[in-house]
Amino acid sequence: MNDTNNIDIINQIRSKVDIVDIISEYLPLTQRGKNFFGICPFHDDTNPSMSVSREKQIYKCFSCGASGNVFNFIMDYEHISFKEALVLLSQKTGIDIGNIQVKKENNKYEEFYNIYNIALKYFQNNINTIQGKQAKEYLEQRKIDETIIKDFSIGLSLSTRDGLLKLLTRKKYNNKLLNDLGLTVNNYDNFIDRIIFPLWDTNGKVVGFSGRIYHQNSKQNKYVNTKETPIFKKGQTLYNYHRAKEFARREKSIIIMEGFMDVIRAYSIGVKNVVALMGTAMTKEQVNLVKRLSSHIILCFDGDDAGRKATLTNGDMLVKAGIDNIKVIALENNDDPDTYILNNSSENFKALIENAINYSDYKINSLKKGINFNSDIEKSEYINKVIKEVSTIKDEIRVEIVLKNLAKEFNLSYNTLEKRLLEMTQEEEKRQVVIYETKSSKKKNNKYEKATYEYLYYMLINEQAIIYYDQQNIFFPIEKARYLASEISYYYKKYGIITIADFYTYLQDKKDLMELLKIVLTYDVKEKVEKEEIEALAKVIREYNVSQEIQRLKEKMKDKIDPLEKAKLADEIRMLKIGSV
Ligand code: GTP
Ligand code: MN
Repeated sequence: MNDTNNIDIINQIRSKVDIVDIISEYLPLTQRGKNFFGICPFHDDTNPSMSVSREKQIYKCFSCGASGNVFNFIMDYEHISFKEALVLLSQKTGIDIGNIQVKKENNKYEEFYNIYNIALKYFQNNINTIQGKQAKEYLEQRKIDETIIKDFSIGLSLSTRDGLLKLLTRKKYNNKLLNDLGLTVNNYDNFIDRIIFPLWDTNGKVVGFSGRIYHQNSKQNKYVNTKETPIFKKGQTLYNYHRAKEFARREKSIIIMEGFMDVIRAYSIGVKNVVALMGTAMTKEQVNLVKRLSSHIILCFDGDDAGRKATLTNGDMLVKAGIDNIKVIALENNDDPDTYILNNSSENFKALIENAINYSDYKINSLKKGINFNSDIEKSEYINKVIKEVSTIKDEIRVEIVLKNLAKEFNLSYNTLEKRLLEMTQEEEKRQVVIYETKSSKKKNNKYEKATYEYLYYMLINEQAIIYYDQQNIFFPIEKARYLASEISYYYKKYGIITIADFYTYLQDKKDLMELLKIVLTYDVKEKVEKEEIEALAKVIREYNVSQEIQRLKEKMKDKIDPLEKAKLADEIRMLKIGSV
């Protein structure tokens, strides 16, 4: 990476693409003035806090502080290494990266991926042997054909307790590692006689497995999973996400289901923008994952009590995350999407998607359950809950329709209901302001820190600030700031120019300086800077250094007894004070 030629090619690739175009492929951006804005995919957000600058070719989130150039965006978004991001962009630009050697960050887990891939091949092979006959019959009876088996890489673990263990031991992988990866438990295979479904991360790498029983009378747990590892976290995984990505963007919607089998079935009839939860309620991370794909989310859970409950829990979670286009496919008769499709037709299921109802309508409807409408208390509680729900609806026309219906149903005046709605909205807004204020007050830095960060920022946009830094030997009061400043100065001397977007690439391997750079970028308030401002900041920093030195000398004076030495120190302090005015 330090090789000048590499840097040249990397920067050439970076400058060939426009960050605005690239980020637009991932999320919608709208132009406001010179910059483009979108909802930041790197934290829980509902407001467009991420700005993308065409001029500077960087992005920056005002809320969480994420920032970087086009490589950083792709790396963080796709969870890939620098090298992989480079390859991706080189393909787009057609610039040959030749045999550039970039330090591999994923190295640490490369072995994990390799082992899972060996296991996958083993499972896939098993199902096609004579020992897989029963499993094949089971799948066939469930209408899982060969194409689906291939598409989803479905496999089989044998009824022996050490088939996989033996294979991997022969390949010199040790027991501890295999236990850690969840492929074995206490030095025996974790999966015994189960149909195996590989689990993929968001980029389609196999990071674990789930095994399902398939014998009629088995009393064991239906599914067994590999355990969580640094590369597999249940709450951050959605089954089939890596494939659904493309289709969700195309269809402009994403369907969430409960089970693997549901997703596999839907996919097989051409409904491909589907993912499944891993048997738990949605986590924030999973919400963020789907939010990235589309703001139109369709919940399609099982038509039983558990499924209805899950629809409400997860629907509320999505509402809280600021998603306002949530729809529900409400199955009935204990159907799950899999059985519904099998018992009806693909067309019927596709019609259900078309006719999915708004989540707020679904919720309002479900609020009615179990309410005793003869009790005034329960009735008013219900009405308040409905209004609370209405307060999450952004479409004013729908708000009016729901309120009017409610007024009619309970013979109340529309004004009363509207007034209550207004009160609730104001209460919520007040709450939000408090949250915002406590969040932003933490960020205040003191004067010298501010001067330091501002100065560093100016070094990135104006070479005068670099030259002045070198001439004056500016000593920043924060250690990391000194490192960053010397890197900027070094970069400028080496390349004769400083471009923030390329400087990001240069800092690629220096994680803590990168963190500091992100902080510095939040000081991006001015487009241009005058020499006087640079000097004024330098002065603040110098004054601070002097005051620190005076402080140090004063402390030292306290310890001295000898009047001569004391006088000498006092003199030093006096000189410093004169010098600093
Ligand atoms: P089928 O019963 O074969 O149709 O499977 P399914 O995928 O539709 O499963 P189901 O709807 O019963 O459960 C939904 C999801 O919960 C599954 O896909 C699993 O991820 C998870 N799950 C279900 N049962 C178990 C279990 O016994 N153990 C674990 N760890 N997860 C389970
Ligand atoms: Mn099922």
